[in-house]
Formats: sequence, structure tokens, C-alpha cells
Amino acid sequence: MKVGVVGCGHVGLVTAAALAELGHEVLGTDRDAEKLALLARGETPFYEPGLEEALRRGMRAGRLRFTPDPAEALRDAEVVFICVGTPPRADGEANLLAVERSGSTIARHGRDGAIVVEKSTVPAGTADRLAEILRREGGGRRFEVASNPEFLREGSALRDALEPDRIVIGIGSARSLRTLARLYEPLTREGHPLIVTDIRTAELAKHASNAFLAMKISFANALARLCERAGADVAAVADVMGADPRIGRAFLDAGLGYGGYCFPKDVAALERLARRLGYGFPLLREVARLNDEAVEAAVEKIADALWHLEGKRIAILGLSFKPETDDVRLSPALTLADRLLAAGAEVVGFDPRAGRNAKEELPALRVAADPYEAAAGAHCLVIATAWREFRDLDLVALRACMAYPVVVDGRNLLDPEAVVAAGFTYYPTGRPPLRPEAPAPPRPAAEPVRAGPLGLSTG
Ligand code: UGA
Repeated sequence: MKVGVVGCGHVGLVTAAALAELGHEVLGTDRDAEKLALLARGETPFYEPGLEEALRRGMRAGRLRFTPDPAEALRDAEVVFICVGTPPRADGEANLLAVERSGSTIARHGRDGAIVVEKSTVPAGTADRLAEILRREGGGRRFEVASNPEFLREGSALRDALEPDRIVIGIGSARSLRTLARLYEPLTREGHPLIVTDIRTAELAKHASNAFLAMKISFANALARLCERAGADVAAVADVMGADPRIGRAFLDAGLGYGGYCFPKDVAALERLARRLGYGFPLLREVARLNDEAVEAAVEKIADALWHLEGKRIAILGLSFKPETDDVRLSPALTLADRLLAAGAEVVGFDPRAGRNAKEELPALRVAADPYEAAAGAHCLVIATAWREFRDLDLVALRACMAYPVVVDGRNLLDPEAVVAAGFTYYPTGRPPLRPEAPAPPRPAAEPVRAGPLGLSTG
């Protein structure tokens, strides 16, 4: 099938690459000509495992192309995906300007009868607005709007798109359903379930899914605060909870909280939508508050371990909002760095992929070339993002180059025993700290005289 993709960001590119992998003919377009030039060379503007290879494969096979000309991209497309950003406004409401603009572009250049699919995460009711624009500006051509929310995660986006837990299609007509069912047939044939709903339900289901996952994380973080006070282990509590299939273990990892482009904005957007519709949903505000608290708790822990933050040097390992990505948008690691800098500490960060982006986002941050350079002279080492390679750090070498032997593990990534064996005091999240065993007191030279029950010598 011929598919047009409007917006070549993370979601757009993964959608385009995945649909090309499924055998469709895909044309992507974007307002950013520089980005398209990069794509034409087979490069992506961000790091996503496997994506460059998939894009190149699609382009080589002649199934995937990018063009700055929306008329060319949309002229023949039976299905057009809107994949533009929906960033938060200052009050948390989703900014739908780019969606509106895409609607106008499609109205002008799309072919009669095309199905226009919202892939971007949008508040329930957006499709109605979109349909209005398409009707108003379509010059008599008819379009149908559908919703097909994307559930891909950065870092495993292509796999998530090609092996989805569910394909959700919100439709307003049997014709839309037939067309989209045909589009996804290569996946449904392999057993990936297709869930068909009305459009508003599909739109809301995406926000609800992200908000619920964020709530699980915030619940785990609130538990972490409690476990630290009660002397319990939050990861073990999560294991016990997660063994109940009604709860599930996923997304119960306590740490510095969630970041990235999706959860913070989607929790806020759902809360705003609820409020606009006259239903307060205070739970969502609490989810966001607990997320902020997770970083504050780490700041307090570091301050407590170091007595004062002023003049201390702190090494932060991991700057991206999660591992396997170079994305630093709303990264808890950078919020932490910012808070520590504001408190008078010097902060040196390291990230396997996101160093450059982090420096751009937070110029006061020093970025080191490797973990050991970051740790040199530091009073505290913080694990802020759970990159797998940090598990293999040479702890003895780190200890040797640091000023104080303090590790704060904001992701419970390291092996506690190994950290302590290397001579560190270890502050995990949601568990009591561990200290290296104090050296045994020197043994007295001679056996003391053992006293009997009444203090009389029995010797
Ligand atoms: C999220 C959703 O997981 C996707 O299903 C959705 O499609 C996507 O948003 C989106 O709306 O586009 P993503 O933001 O890429 O995906 O990343 P996640 O893997 O969900 O992680 C989000 C944040 O939660 C990260 O900062 C991660 O470190 C944090 N997290 C995750 C925790 O703190 N604890 C956990 O147990 C799990």
C-alpha cells in the first residue's frame, strides 16, 4: 500500500521504517529540510538501535523515500500518518499546533478518500478537530480520520513497532477499518492482536496507558521513600508485588523517576484534559509530584552523605533519560545535575551516548570522556541512568581515583556487595545504605584473666 508519513521525528521515522519493512511503499516528509538531507544519506538525527539499518534497507529496496515536498509525499498515499510533536504548553495542555498544520497540509495535497491517521499522542477529541480542518480546507475532497496510537519505547522502538503487544485502531467507518486492517495484515497474520475501538477511546487509551505506567513508577518511588525509613528493600517488595499477575513486575523499579518526551507530558496532558472536561483527576498530579520528589530525595541523600554540597565534586554516570538512547529531554539525571549545580557543587557527567546532548541542554555541566575521568577527584559517584555497561565498571580503579568513597545508586544498578568490597559506602534507592566493614579492633597481646560469676578469678 502507498503510505505518507508527515513528521519524521522518533515516531515518524520508526513508523516509516516499520511500514517499509512490512512491504509498504512509504514516503516521509518533514518541514526540516536538513533532517531530510541527513535521512537521504541513510543517517538518523538521533540514536535508536537498528533504525539506521532498517531505513537503509527500506531505501535500498525502493520502498522508503523522504521528500521535503508534501505534495509529492501525499499525492498518492491511501493512508497518511500524522507523526508530528505534541509538546506541552506551560500549563501542561498538549500543544496541537503541528497537528493542525499537518491537517491543513493534508487537506491541500492529500488524495480524495485518503485515511488520515493520528499516530502522535493527542487528547481525546482531537480527531473531530482534524476532520473539521480536512473538510474545511479539502476543496471538496473527502478524508476519513482514524486513530492508531503508537506504544513504542525509545531504545527498542523498531522492535516494539514490528512486534507490538497490541495494534490499536480507533475508527469511524468500516472502510477505515478495512484499509488499516490491510495495512497491518503482515503483523496480525503473525498473531499480534488488533484492538478496534471508536476514535476517542483509542485516543484516550494511549494517554491512559502512559499515565498508568507513570503511576506504577511513582508508586514504586513512594514505596522507596517508605522502605528507606522502614529498613525494607523496595526491589524485593516490588518482586513480591510483581509476582501477582494482577500487578505485574514491570515499571516498578524505583529510582530517580521517569523522564523523556512522553510520560511527563502525557501525565500533564491527561490531567489537563480531565480538568477541561470538568473532572478533577488529582491522582495524576500526585503521580507527577512523586516523580519530582524522587530527584529531590536523591539530592538530599547526596547532601547527607557529603555533609555539604558546596565545593564538592559529584560524578554523574548516565545523562540520558533512560539507557540505550541519546535523548536527554526531561532526563531525571539532568534535573539532578541542575539541582546539585544550584546547590554549589561541581558536577561532571558521563554518558555512553548522550554526552553532547546533555552539554547542550545544561552548559554548566562538565562532560567527561569516560566514567573514570568523570570520577577523578569526585566526592560522590551517582548512577543516574541504568546503562548496562556501568555494571562492569572497575570499582577498585574508581575508588582509587575518587576523593571520598561514596556511591549513590539512583537506579539500583550495581552489585551492592561488590561496591562495598571495593571500599565504598553504598547508598542504594529504597534500601538502607551499606558500609564497608570497619576493620576489626586490634587483638590484645595476652589472654585477659577471665572473671567468674562473682568477679572472682577462675584461673
Ligand atoms: C513510553 C512508553 O513506555 C511507550 O509505551 C510509549 O509509546 C512512549 O512512552 C510514547 O508515548 O511515545 P519511553 O518514554 O520511550 O516510552 O520510555 P520508557 O521505557 O517507558 O521509560 C520512561 C521512563 O520511565 C524512563 O525515564 C525510565 O527510566 C523510567 N522508568 C521506567 C522507571 O523509572 N522505572 C521503571 O520501572 C520503568
